[in-house]
Amino acid sequence: MNKEELVKKAYEAQKFSYSPYSGFQVGAALLAGNGKIYTGCNIENAAFSPTNCAERTAFFKAVSEGEKEFQGIAIVGNKKDAPKEEWEFCTPCGVCRQVMLEFVNPEEFLIISGKGDEIKEFTLKELLPESFSPSMVN
Ligand code: THU
Repeated sequence: MNKEELVKKAYEAQKFSYSPYSGFQVGAALLAGNGKIYTGCNIENAAFSPTNCAERTAFFKAVSEGEKEFQGIAIVGNKKDAPKEEWEFCTPCGVCRQVMLEFVNPEEFLIISGKGDEIKEFTLKELLPESFSPSMVN
């Protein structure tokens, strides 16, 4: 997995962020098992709750095109026009973590957070321990 390339794709997707309410722009790049990359951005809504995070946009795009295997996702996020010194590592919200769990092996799937040229990485299991997993229902 080329993590730097994945973060670069997340930054490209961030440019499409539709976030007139929060001004917080997020981009994601999801690497499928076959090497294909699906990007996503956050898409906000005047009614607030229909807002979709960048990570879920990427996952829903991929799953809706038949993808079933995933290796990892890169995420970047910061306030619009924030100077580089104010950027922080953006990690997925709880809802997105749960959506990821539906489709991946939490011990293997990598969450790569980018901040400029820096990278922090986690497995999904690290970010969602003791989770409510699909195997409990199935
Ligand atoms: N957001 C994401 O897209 N991904 C995250 O990991 C955190 C939050 C979005 C949702 C909303 O549009 C904005 O960031 C502020 O919460």
